[in-house]
Amino acid sequence: MSKYEEFPRIKRLPQYVFAVVNELKAKLRREGEDIIDFGMGNPDLKPAQHIIDKLCESAQKPHTHRYSMSQGIPRLRKAICDFYERRYGVKLDPEEEAIMTIGSKEGISHLMVAMLSPGDIALVPSPRYPIHYYAPVIAGASVLTVPLPLEGSVSERQEKFLKSIYETYEDSYPKAKVLILNFPNNPTTMIVEKEFFKEIVDFAKKKGLWIVHDFAYADLCYDGYKAPSILEIEGAKDIAVELYSMTKGFSMAGWRVGFVLGNPTIIYNLKRLKSYLDYGTFTPIQVASVIALDSDYSIVEEARDIYNKRLELLVNGLNRAGWQVEKPKATMFLWAKIPEKFQKLGSVEFSMKLLREAHVAVAPGAGFGEHGEGYVRFAVVENEKRIRQAVRNIKKFLRQYND
Ligand SMILES: Cc1ncc(COP(=O)(O)O)c(C=O)c1O
Repeated sequence: MSKYEEFPRIKRLPQYVFAVVNELKAKLRREGEDIIDFGMGNPDLKPAQHIIDKLCESAQKPHTHRYSMSQGIPRLRKAICDFYERRYGVKLDPEEEAIMTIGSKEGISHLMVAMLSPGDIALVPSPRYPIHYYAPVIAGASVLTVPLPLEGSVSERQEKFLKSIYETYEDSYPKAKVLILNFPNNPTTMIVEKEFFKEIVDFAKKKGLWIVHDFAYADLCYDGYKAPSILEIEGAKDIAVELYSMTKGFSMAGWRVGFVLGNPTIIYNLKRLKSYLDYGTFTPIQVASVIALDSDYSIVEEARDIYNKRLELLVNGLNRAGWQVEKPKATMFLWAKIPEKFQKLGSVEFSMKLLREAHVAVAPGAGFGEHGEGYVRFAVVENEKRIRQAVRNIKKFLRQYND
């Protein structure tokens, strides 16, 4: 219960499920416990030094402290378009098909305000990154959830998911206006192949459905997998935009640099809205982001390799400890089914137990929507030494409950 009256729009935003786990984490820390924290996907790595140097150099120039440009400075929009051409072979017009956002979270939030009105329907997968659900809610729209299959091969899951989207769309009244997608997926780590995007673009075009694809984990792919951009599909730009973020691959979480790329109508509308709302990200950050995007891609690969190594350690360690998990092909997460003997606790209670007894913090699956129940998510934002320690703690914890 809130101590204050909640205004109607705020009433539609429940307290974060993660809050209870976070409170316990803070309490244990105050009591002096060392908590190994895999709870939030908040990257712990530092951007490459030349990017930080450019930020400092640019901040020394008096003119860079004025208001910046809400849509992003032209050089930055050109840099992201060049990056997409090099990496995905996708040609984009920096004027009409690219806009900067204050991180992709702000991007998706205002995108939904621009695209949706009360009475409109958005199709959103579940489990999902919370803002995928709540951005349409904040816009006053209704949400229909589409379950993401949690088990099976990549092609089985793709097919099942497509079928669910088609069915949910056909059942929607009025017809859904926007479909939100996110692959590689947070929290489930589900990946798709290009074929999936071909099919969904084809469907969306036939039905007049907009697609918003959150590509936050574009750069964190392992074992030879390369995540496709939806914009690689011919004609995707007619109905789709993609959000690209510098948070994960470039380790620039706090810098707040994201982009919306693709369909010119969507971008025009977002630009109009944002011109009322903000003056853009601090210019030196934008200038340094140009340097980052123009850099050799190896700076991203270095971060990717660190996350990969951490995931390997965690996955192998948990399997040795008797918690059966599979290494993901992408993201910085491990989406782990709660061991059988703890299933009945539910993900929130299990996360609290793990925190209390093993001093390891994870995100309960229920925080990502009802379909996330039965799972927890580890974000590998702790170093290798601490991951080894976490595995030892979990092993001890599990052993206690072995009959
Ligand atoms: C799927 C997804 N989208 C967006 C974001 C937010 O990224 P940004 O820092 O670009 O706002 C995250 C961050 O965890 C995420 O997991």
